[in-house]
Amino acid sequence: MALPQLGAWVLDELPRLNQGILRDEVAPSVLVDALHEVVLPHLPLPDRLSVPEAQQLVVNLGFVGASVGRHYQERTPGGKDTPERAFEGLEAGTGQIPFQRYFAALADHTGTGHDHRDSYASLVRWNVGTVEVRLGEQTVVSMPGVFSDGRTRTYTGTSGEEHFFALVKKGEAVEKAVNDLLEPLADPETCWACPEPMARVRTAITLLGTLRQLFLDFAALPPEHSMPPEHFMDVFRQFAVHWTPGDIPPSGALDIEGLKRDFLLGIAIPDYASHVRKLFPGLLTEERAILEELMVQPTLPQRVATSLGVDLEKLPDADPADLRRLVAAHPVLILWYDILTAHAKAAGSHLMLSKKFLFKPQRQRDAEGIGDHALVSNRSGTTGMTETYLERLTRARRDHVLAPLHRAVAEVGEGTPLHAVRSDMREIPPVGVLLVT
Ligand code: HEM
Repeated sequence: MALPQLGAWVLDELPRLNQGILRDEVAPSVLVDALHEVVLPHLPLPDRLSVPEAQQLVVNLGFVGASVGRHYQERTPGGKDTPERAFEGLEAGTGQIPFQRYFAALADHTGTGHDHRDSYASLVRWNVGTVEVRLGEQTVVSMPGVFSDGRTRTYTGTSGEEHFFALVKKGEAVEKAVNDLLEPLADPETCWACPEPMARVRTAITLLGTLRQLFLDFAALPPEHSMPPEHFMDVFRQFAVHWTPGDIPPSGALDIEGLKRDFLLGIAIPDYASHVRKLFPGLLTEERAILEELMVQPTLPQRVATSLGVDLEKLPDADPADLRRLVAAHPVLILWYDILTAHAKAAGSHLMLSKKFLFKPQRQRDAEGIGDHALVSNRSGTTGMTETYLERLTRARRDHVLAPLHRAVAEVGEGTPLHAVRSDMREIPPVGVLLVT
């Protein structure tokens, strides 16, 4: 098959076959035979492809690999322990290259450091069309995909999967808008109480509100406009199988903009950097480099505190009157308190989503004796994060370094002189988050 035909096959035929196999109406061998006979044999050698073609093929063959892997593991006793065996005998291209070797060469040819399996980047960022974040008339983020067909590839052709991929890409785009505003503030020359840096923080606070709203809106949608939890648990997540033991399956945990924000704003989890490093194989080269850099730098709240001469270590035990005086002397701290709070609230809403779509229904299944899936457990995320760990992350974001200012900041009501530091908020134009192609 030539590349355009393969693209059409992955969009339309693969989901049909997956549906049939999952309903036991089609044998998994029908999929493997189609791959052998029609889909894979005539693919060009990876180094004959342009980079965009290689990226498109990584997305398309990512869905193929996930499908072959899932059906093999689901139907083969002990298959979960031997994931590579799913691909035995499957060859791609005129050179009859073993599938996983072909996929690895393809991933390498993109020059992005993409993993030798499907990933967050391929399923979400490359797969979904362009997402734009607008502030009034101005587009502040434009995050393209690698296709221009306006379609989103899925495992089973259901709108729920499209909605889910679009939600995650929209979330990432909003987070990028936040990070783009905050990152330049790491400049040692930043004048924290000057209008421009303060305007950046105010806009970032608004955008974090948008992110939170995105999560809340998705949770409030009727199932036909979001994704029914049963589909998420029983169908969608079960495609996030290992391709080799110990590799990193796709996960929201690989959302680079979310990871960056934690390092920019700080998170009180002692082993956080080593936790993030474990996810590195699932990220792209550029993303790993950005994180390595951020991990060893002071966070923005630390930089603000140093520049204002505030000892963050002393805040938890400080006298309330001293904290009030501190806030009065440096009203910009109110903005930094607000942004850390907005960050924590967004995390709280994401935690709610994870509970609604995964942890609560699984607890219910456990209580009813239904149990768990043998393939991809619904008792934890695909990279192994448990509900307790997500709660711990959310708590750590809530217990941020400026949290001790809580009462002093709460007293800054509307109409009080210090409130002016927040007042430009009203001038921020409405935020739009759109999937434009
Ligand atoms: C219905 C929607 C969602 C559900 C059910 C959900 C569920 C989960 C689960 C179960 C985990 C643990 C993952 C693991 O073990 O690897 C997780 C982590 C994560 N997800 Fe989501 N997620 C959703 C939407 C999103 C969106 C839209 C974003 C991006 C804006 C996102 C970003 C993250 C991040 C950054 C993590 C890492 C944990 C953290 O930083 O708190 N998720 N999510």
